Amino acid sequence: MSHERASWGSKLGLILASAGSAVGLGNLWRFPYVAGQNGGGSFLLFYLICTFTIGITLVFAEAALGVKTKSDPAGAFGKIHPRLKFIGVLGVLTSAVIVPYYSVVGGWIVAYIVKSFSVSEIQNFESHFAEFSADPVEPVAYFAIYLLTTAAVVYMGIEKGIEKYCKIIMPGLFVLLLVLMVRVLTLDNAWQGVKFFFTPDFSKVTAATMLNAMGQVFFSVSVGMGIYITYASYVKNDDVSVGKTMGQVIFLDTFVSLLTGLTIFPAVFAFGMQMNAGPALTFITLPKIFAAIPFGTFFGLVFFVILFGAALTSSISLMEVVTTFLCDQAKMTRKKAVAAYTALCLVTGTLVSLSFGKLSGFKIGGKILFDQFDFLASNILMPVGGFLTAVAIGWVLGADKLTVSQNRCVQKSFEFCLKWICPAGVLAIMLNALGMI
Ligand code: PHE
Repeated sequence: MSHERASWGSKLGLILASAGSAVGLGNLWRFPYVAGQNGGGSFLLFYLICTFTIGITLVFAEAALGVKTKSDPAGAFGKIHPRLKFIGVLGVLTSAVIVPYYSVVGGWIVAYIVKSFSVSEIQNFESHFAEFSADPVEPVAYFAIYLLTTAAVVYMGIEKGIEKYCKIIMPGLFVLLLVLMVRVLTLDNAWQGVKFFFTPDFSKVTAATMLNAMGQVFFSVSVGMGIYITYASYVKNDDVSVGKTMGQVIFLDTFVSLLTGLTIFPAVFAFGMQMNAGPALTFITLPKIFAAIPFGTFFGLVFFVILFGAALTSSISLMEVVTTFLCDQAKMTRKKAVAAYTALCLVTGTLVSLSFGKLSGFKIGGKILFDQFDFLASNILMPVGGFLTAVAIGWVLGADKLTVSQNRCVQKSFEFCLKWICPAGVLAIMLNALGMI
């Protein structure tokens, strides 16, 4: 594979593709509903602390390892020590857990777009959402469309396409989010939502709040499963400043989450809706906002098309991890790898979609399959991957073997965080959630 290794056209390519992976449903769909279920302000505080300690450090570490080794994650960890190859394999497993349910939500977006061409359907989308997602056929069909679209892009090879595509999607997303936020903040009662979002209530903080905040950070910045190792392995020059490049990605990702929070929460209060609606929250709130603004149907359509694009750049990165792995390690052709993996996801994703309807009685640990997959990936697999990454790079390789910045202070903080804060933080939060400390 290395002889035909592609590379980004420019440094901007790496930034945009990384931002494309980071910014997605995690910010626009998952962040508001998880924050809503976990008390708003206190969740936000833990989320920000985790982002700028554990999250940013691990992103730097992954990217720097990718630049240094120019390999897929399993190969990269294998170069540190042959026994550590399994950390890269764990990332593949994590991706295989995320893609099915991520694509189910992707399917809901496609449904919104298709239905927005019929005015009566879109006005009812919000009230019919529960009914729609529980249907045994419709959402499964939309999920399949979304999954096959992702597979088609990965199949064609993404290095060139993604770079161009992100340049259009990202600015569009910002502009629309800003327009929506301004509209929502001028609604009656909107400030209640802003207050909810920014005022921490420590009486509501539990071990679960912290675990959920950490899980959200891992999911949102796409860290702990080797995405940045993969993407950074495609840089041409080694003189890229990992700190500067990846720092921008983290800021962008956090900024989009904050903008989304400032749009969804005020709207929830203004329209008197439930804060803890769960995965359906965005799909109930946003149509309400669109119904309340002039040319709302049009804005709604544009917004969901952009949302679709943002989600797609993330699911592409997820599928790319598995594809690269199957090509490199199992020596499959790209064609076969994508086909086999897509077939597997079609089956698991269908089951996940049905967990809102026919299979809603099937629960593991009190959670339907959808929530179970999400919990497993974000709160367990990715933090475990992050922990192992920190130990492998920080201790086995040695944090000082990677340069993330020429600034001594940044470099030293990175080394300290990687060796101490990341492993200790992840371990403490997980043990705490298990009730062990
Ligand atoms: N970060 C992406 C999002 O916010 C999801 C994702 C998770 C992508 C893990 C890749 C890896 O939607």
